Amino acid sequence: MNFWAGKKIVLIICGGIAAYRAIDLIRSLRKEGAVVTVVATKSALEFVGKLSLQALSSEPVHSDLFTPAMSDAMDHIHLTKNADLVVIAPATANLLAKMAAGMADDLTSSMLLAYNGPLLAAPAMNTRMWQHSATQRNVQQLKSDGVEFINPSSGSLACGEDGEGRLAAIEEIIEAGRSLLSKKILKGHRLLITAGPTHEALDPVRYIANHSTGKMGWSICRAALRAGAEVVLIHGPVNMEPPHGAESRRVTSAQEMFTNSIEAWQRGCSGAILTAAVGDYRPLHPKAGKIKKDPANPELALTLTANPDILATLAKESGGKVVVGFAAETGNALELGREKMVRKGCDLLVINDLLDPKSGFGTDTNQVTLLYGDGREESWPLLSKDMVAEKLIQAIAIMLNK
Ligand code: PMT
Repeated sequence: MNFWAGKKIVLIICGGIAAYRAIDLIRSLRKEGAVVTVVATKSALEFVGKLSLQALSSEPVHSDLFTPAMSDAMDHIHLTKNADLVVIAPATANLLAKMAAGMADDLTSSMLLAYNGPLLAAPAMNTRMWQHSATQRNVQQLKSDGVEFINPSSGSLACGEDGEGRLAAIEEIIEAGRSLLSKKILKGHRLLITAGPTHEALDPVRYIANHSTGKMGWSICRAALRAGAEVVLIHGPVNMEPPHGAESRRVTSAQEMFTNSIEAWQRGCSGAILTAAVGDYRPLHPKAGKIKKDPANPELALTLTANPDILATLAKESGGKVVVGFAAETGNALELGREKMVRKGCDLLVINDLLDPKSGFGTDTNQVTLLYGDGREESWPLLSKDMVAEKLIQAIAIMLNK
């Protein structure tokens, strides 16, 4: 079941140029199945039309503390009564200041003073306004009052300047909201996660690689962060930005992934989830210059040598920590997985069958079977990679918290 399905979100839109991006936020939340009630300040409605917000949310848009249509003039209490989450996006310096001071002179500020549930603020403003000591003081105050923030990103701003102040990416705001509503079952744990492919150089322009996109590892990283873990993500070359909140390091070769993983593991990790498709072999003698085509000889022989095995090394040195591996197999997946489990000595092996076109490399879904060290086996139906990650993190939390 989709996490957002049926969740009631109250979205407060303040008056800033980033107000137009709230439209995408409403769309994305509704696509995920959430019910979105929009509250817009009067200045927000200077930037984005009430009708657009109404049409996209399929709900009336609220902006006045007192309207003739109101039966009891209590919108500021009723609107958030059954809300699972209140999101302020964009949050302006003005609203943050009012909230920090406990003011209640319009619908949004009155609503917020009367609300004590989960609250996420996504500020957007000019860099100097954001960095001003008054704004930063208000942010600190609100954080200590329990407000969660997703900070603005850096880039070119509507005022023509460059700097910190852009509204965070919509998917980051949604992920931060989900994280706020998630149980912190991995609080106090630090996890090492590997993801993506490795590139093993043949010469300066060519390499041996595989089809891993990093999607499975990214889903696991996000699920672990939501569950309150600290995450060190060591990943190969992929086309995605690391999830917000992870300590990440991009590497190229299996040897680099090995060195970085061992270093991270020794810095207090209590578990490792290794989803990376690591090259088992690398060219023994990569050429310093580009390999030239020899028209006289159609064959080219390469000598490969084995790469170090991160999973087997961590499992050997685990000393009570939990080590989880993945296995991508083609045919006889279960039997090959059982052999691999014994060979690598990990606590849990997650097998995906590459012969299923909806599983494995590059897909958004995965069908996995879990093999536990104690002999238990568990097959899950085809699920989104996000859902596999969510369930896997729950299983690993049980192992870690034993
Ligand atoms: O990234 P995506 O496109 O989403 O695809 C996801 C995935 C298919 C890559 C992922 O779900 C997966 O199955 N990863 C393991 C891929 C694999 O083939 O692993 P393996 O059978 O070569 O290795 C088994 C385990 O040992 C893996 O946990 C691997 O990370 C680890 N290993 C392997 C070799 C090595 N030198 N060091 C390792 O740590």
